[in-house]
Amino acid sequence: MGLIKKLWTLLSRPSQKIALGLLLGGGFFGGVVFFLVFHFTMNATNSMDICISCHEMEGVYEEYKESKHYSSASGVRATCSDCHVPSGKTFGDYISKFLAKLTIGSKDIYHHLMGTYPTREAFDKGRWHLAQDVLAYMRSRDSKECRNCHSFEAMDMEEQDKSAARKHKRVMESGDKTCVDCHAGIAHKEPAEPEGQAEKGQSEKK
Ligand code: HEC
Ligand code: HEC
Ligand code: HEC
Ligand code: HEC
Repeated sequence: MGLIKKLWTLLSRPSQKIALGLLLGGGFFGGVVFFLVFHFTMNATNSMDICISCHEMEGVYEEYKESKHYSSASGVRATCSDCHVPSGKTFGDYISKFLAKLTIGSKDIYHHLMGTYPTREAFDKGRWHLAQDVLAYMRSRDSKECRNCHSFEAMDMEEQDKSAARKHKRVMESGDKTCVDCHAGIAHKEPAEPEGQAEKGQSEKK
């Protein structure tokens, strides 16, 4: 107890008060600056320009530019990060976004620096595996990023063709499948499975 009392008398001395004030104020200010820089970096690294600074030479970008998600009658564009980087309104989504940048993002940079895919052919060979990773990640999030724009509730199923409406109604009730189980290859061609890869057990096709 004596210790607390001692500390208190120490801290309530005017000069100490100022020091403590500066410390707390400085800490708070530093925290705010850190958060702003952090937040800015998180958003800046979402831009399509950054993604295509590495991904421009590959089929993924060309194919995406042919897709409805790049240009459509409605004029709504989904950019790379809208589909590939977690986003949402909750704190959990923010954490997922941060973790994705930390893990998947640094893996991208690592393989870029290591020159894992020196040529377009080398990249094409690796595409199927990358696509399986992407699909597995999207399944693990129950296609959350698709649902940031699309929802069964907002779909006018009368407007959809019969088989789509039937499937959507069923999945809406059962929840046993997620968007990307049926909708792979919407922004890029779904890469073909290379021969002799199936037995490696990289992925079980559903
Ligand atoms: C520094 C270069 C670089 C940048 C910038 C970059 N990527 Fe990549 N990306 C790569 C490389 C290299 C790979 C292959 C990684 C591997 O072999 O695992 C890759 C792989 C991927 C994959 C395949 C799956 C996976 O999990 O690795 C996706 C999806 C992807 N990038 C999306 C993006 C998006 C979206 C952005 C922008 C927000 C982006 N990339 C920015 C170099 C980059
Ligand atoms: C930023 C918003 C946005 C995101 C994210 C998004 N979409 Fe879309 N999507 C659209 C819009 C807008 C259209 C309608 C384009 C048109 O007018 O035809 C569309 C069209 C589609 C279509 C029909 C056209 C086609 O290309 O087959 C499918 C299927 C689809 N989206 C599935 C998905 C899936 C699966 C995901 C997640 C991997 C996803 N979307 C992510 C906005 C989005
Ligand atoms: C059981 C399979 C299945 C699942 C799961 C599924 N869809 Fe579909 N969806 C279809 C089929 C089949 C069509 C019609 C053919 C096509 O466009 O691929 C379709 C069509 C669409 C279209 C185009 C509708 C139109 O008429 O323009 C959109 C957009 C779409 N789906 C989005 C989604 C989204 C978002 C999810 C997840 C919330 C989802 N779908 C889940 C099977 C499915
Ligand atoms: C509408 C959602 C959507 C958008 C927008 C989108 N992707 Fe993808 N991406 C996917 C899906 C789904 C896959 C999984 C494989 C497939 O279905 O084609 C994928 C796969 C990939 C892969 C793995 C290799 C491959 O060929 O499958 C890379 C790399 C990639 N995307 C990069 C990008 C980049 C870079 C952009 C922007 C220029 C982008 N994506 C925009 C949905 C999207």
